Amino acid sequence: MRTSTNCPFSPHADVVPPVWAGREDQLRDWSDIVRPRRLAGLPERGRTILGEPGLGKSSLLSKIAGDAAAHGDWVTRQLRIPSKADPLKVVAHAILKLAETAGLATAREKRLGDLIERVSQISLKGYGLSLRESEGPEPFTSLTELLVEVGIAAMNQGDVVVLIHIDEVQNIADEHMLSQLLIALGDAMSREVQVRVPGGRLVDRLLPISVYLTGLPDFADMSSARRGATFARRFATTTLESFGDSDLEAALQPFVLSGWEVPDDQGGIRCVTLEPSARDEILELCKGEPFLFQLAGEKAWYAGSTDAITRDQVLKGWQQAARDEAAGHVERILDRLPGRERELLDAMIELPPKDRSLKNIALAMGFERSSQIGPIAQRLDTNRKIIERGRIYTFRNRAIEAYLSSDWPAHR
Ligand SMILES: Nc1ncnc2c1ncn2[C@@H]1O[C@H](COP(=O)(O)OP(=O)(O)OP(=O)(O)O)[C@@H](O)[C@H]1O
Ligand SMILES: [Mg+2]
Repeated sequence: MRTSTNCPFSPHADVVPPVWAGREDQLRDWSDIVRPRRLAGLPERGRTILGEPGLGKSSLLSKIAGDAAAHGDWVTRQLRIPSKADPLKVVAHAILKLAETAGLATAREKRLGDLIERVSQISLKGYGLSLRESEGPEPFTSLTELLVEVGIAAMNQGDVVVLIHIDEVQNIADEHMLSQLLIALGDAMSREVQVRVPGGRLVDRLLPISVYLTGLPDFADMSSARRGATFARRFATTTLESFGDSDLEAALQPFVLSGWEVPDDQGGIRCVTLEPSARDEILELCKGEPFLFQLAGEKAWYAGSTDAITRDQVLKGWQQAARDEAAGHVERILDRLPGRERELLDAMIELPPKDRSLKNIALAMGFERSSQIGPIAQRLDTNRKIIERGRIYTFRNRAIEAYLSSDWPAHR
């Protein structure tokens, strides 16, 4: 029986959907580079993963954090920074939790007790209050120190990495706050400690701590020249892009071949499969957007009760329940774009695809020289991955292209 409780598709934010697609580079980056290098005490920068809304930043980190926790790593829950919230409170609270996991909270050492007490105060009072209290070490220094203690405990335990994930980093609007916070976390990642190696010699190594930041591409713009250099030395940034069909096809293939197990009415198990034409229709409708992929799948699941999901069910589910939401999804991305960037997309759409050169786009936007729109085009390409520059400009984001140039999502 296909029911809401056994549906493998999940258009909900932040959860790891059972039907998972792609993102192999980022998953391998964690398991093959970041984790082993930090475990070995080697330098490896934190990671910043940016992308337009709904591209799967939070889900990706939930998956990485889930895999890490399964290895026994010490992982913060996703630290989401709501707009106007005090990030210092959120991060302080998370580091206290890690200290608890590390068994530091029960340590009898006075120095540790005092440190935990200071960070507890920060987690309660936050940035504003702690700034006014001038005595004692800076709140950010206490965060670093406690995180270093957690890192040392992880190192002593062996085969444990401390993973901190801060989500929606673009909401940290206060420039000073942001740079101090990044420095505090970066300092813990670059703290060297001495360990004794076989033979009795002392050598320096780094602690097994890694920090991931995720958020909207606007975060990249927030890096002022002052913060820019330190930031780049401490965090490597990647920007997510919508999926290609091959990623999504691969994600659905097990469904086509073996099906998805669900309980039947008689206390047994049966398999719900996906007809190849239904798979192709999902790919066609979702245009590579992770959110729309889940949405199309979920609505198809609900659109019938047969053991095989048919193409008709995909279309019916989309028409009845998904298309308006799909339009809303694309509009949210478009509405966030600064005016000039939106104008550039409109100018591209108006030109026939073969004529979409920088020069023609600039002319269509009313500029005399192509160099005048260079930075706008660059941001749409590098920061947002919505277009791809070249001799002829193309769209990377197929949902935006379809929305602006056809009556998709109403029809494909
Ligand atoms: N690798 C993936 N494979 C399949 N579906 C995915 C994948 N990543 C994300 N999704 C789906 O895409 C949707 C959006 O994911 P998520 O909430 O993680 O995006 P986000 O980038 O954090 O969005 P926002 O900017 O709004 O916070 C969810 O429904 C999720 O299930
Ligand atoms: Mg998110």
